[in-house]
Amino acid sequence: MYGTRLYAIVVASAIFIIAANAMAQTKDEQDLPRDPPPPLPAATLKDSKVIALGETLWQEQCTHCHGAKAYPGKAPKLQPRQYKPEFVWDRTHNGFRQMPSWRDVYKPNEIIALVAYVMSDDFFP
Ligand code: HEC
Repeated sequence: MYGTRLYAIVVASAIFIIAANAMAQTKDEQDLPRDPPPPLPAATLKDSKVIALGETLWQEQCTHCHGAKAYPGKAPKLQPRQYKPEFVWDRTHNGFRQMPSWRDVYKPNEIIALVAYVMSDDFFP
């Protein structure tokens, strides 16, 4: 009797330790160092060529989730008036929860172009 109970406790503890480890690992992945934003000068963000590049990239990749025609609830509707450019850069470059990171997809100037477009008056999801 006592032996079975002890066995159960040992097994339960082992499962707990394995599960805790697995959780710690996923947490570590999320806590990967986030790159800090580069300087985002107004002159670049207001440049119509930069904004136009950002718009093209937005149409290619971002509308699937953030576009007006995307499946409702897939991603939040962006609220650029409430954002600082650095925030948009951070989420786009580093990702956040269900928002994929684009750092390995786009070149640094392309991520800045996306920020310029999202922050611009032309922005239309
Ligand atoms: C696979 C779907 C998906 C794609 C593609 C995607 N996003 Fe997102 N995005 C999300 C989700 C989901 C969130 C919300 C993350 C959270 O806060 O939990 C988000 C959040 C954001 C935010 C922060 C919004 C806020 O108010 O917190 C920005 C900015 C953003 N995305 C920009 C972009 C840009 C730019 C692209 C294209 C390069 C893009 N996203 C592509 C799913 C996506």
